[in-house]
Amino acid sequence: MSNDKINFSEISVYAGEEHINAYNSITTPIIQTSTFVFRDSRAIDDYTLRNAERYEYGRYGNPTQAAAEKKLAALEGAEDALLFSSGMSAITTTFLALLKSGDHIVITDDAYKKTLEFCKAVLPQFGIQCSVVSVHDYEAMEASLKPNTRIFFSESPTNPYLNVMDLERLSKMFKGRDIILISDSTFATPFNQRPLELGVNIVTHSCTKYLAGHNDILAGVIMGPVTLVQKVREFHKMMGGVIGPFSSYMLIRGLKTFALRMQRLNENGKKIAEYLFAHPKIDKVYYPGLPDHRYHELAKRTMRGFGAVVTFEVKADMAGTRKFLDNLKRLRIGPSFGGVESLITHPATVSYYYNTKEEREALGIKDNLVRFAAGIEEPDSLIADLEQALAVI
Ligand SMILES: Cc1ncc(COP(=O)(O)O)c(C=O)c1O
Repeated sequence: MSNDKINFSEISVYAGEEHINAYNSITTPIIQTSTFVFRDSRAIDDYTLRNAERYEYGRYGNPTQAAAEKKLAALEGAEDALLFSSGMSAITTTFLALLKSGDHIVITDDAYKKTLEFCKAVLPQFGIQCSVVSVHDYEAMEASLKPNTRIFFSESPTNPYLNVMDLERLSKMFKGRDIILISDSTFATPFNQRPLELGVNIVTHSCTKYLAGHNDILAGVIMGPVTLVQKVREFHKMMGGVIGPFSSYMLIRGLKTFALRMQRLNENGKKIAEYLFAHPKIDKVYYPGLPDHRYHELAKRTMRGFGAVVTFEVKADMAGTRKFLDNLKRLRIGPSFGGVESLITHPATVSYYYNTKEEREALGIKDNLVRFAAGIEEPDSLIADLEQALAVI
């Protein structure tokens, strides 16, 4: 993988920031302001007529946000980056900026639940058609394309089964067509995969996860060529879901240790997956780093590491699975992943509480399915906690 040669620690620590900041500060300041003032009318002329580089109003941009965007773009190898208040804000704003009534969007079927919901339930209200295709079926993907298809949206790896998409194959499929290929790379991060190098046009991330990495802020980003990002930036000025200076700073701070965290998270994910795979009380483990994963070979070819999320089926029914979760001592039950603290979630109850068993099964969510998102703790202590909770059932 080309990203083996990238000096991620150097980029994480330095990229996007000034060598020396205001008041000789080593850190990028939090410019906590909603507006930027003009010294006099001439300064307004310079800004408006002569494009003087400066800021005008918080919804249009902020220096702390700009530093975070430059750091992210450097990590992803993108020309430009645009931050949002959340991953969902990044996705929905981008769709609305790039689509118009009469257009068609295709999305793969195990994309993030809320992204799918937006495509299926909201976009049609604006006259935008949506097709949902199986993440496994490339022929169906090709067959779904129409003359008015403008966006193909994929996610890789996916949640919760960690299916990996062949982004290179997808991008070849769209060559010569006026289709923007967008990939949600939240589960991969630029450390583990470089979608732009595989031909993807726009990469999106929920920075809430691995990028910010501390379970303490919400943020989203899109990255890609200036022309596309700029188009979304102009639209974003109207939509207004801005990240804000404090979260931008928290993101910069979180990113400083991005490379270190990812190394540890990849190691922890692999160790936990191998431990669970060998455990007699576990029916099945989904982790692209395991040889039995459906996309192991593709993942090995296109990814540098496989992340910290491991999905598995406990040899138990709903009650037994809940008992296992309730007996965990260190691990906390909660959605999300990619932070320093481990989190464990039970999709059947956390995300699909009101669905019937039949509905959940149709969506591939079994009662005994558990998603474990390792943090940066010692893997042995995580395994010890899993071990004692499994011993109870
Ligand atoms: C793959 C993926 N994309 C997007 C999102 C949405 O991100 P956010 O929660 O920051 O809005 C999530 C959230 O879990 C996600 O898992």
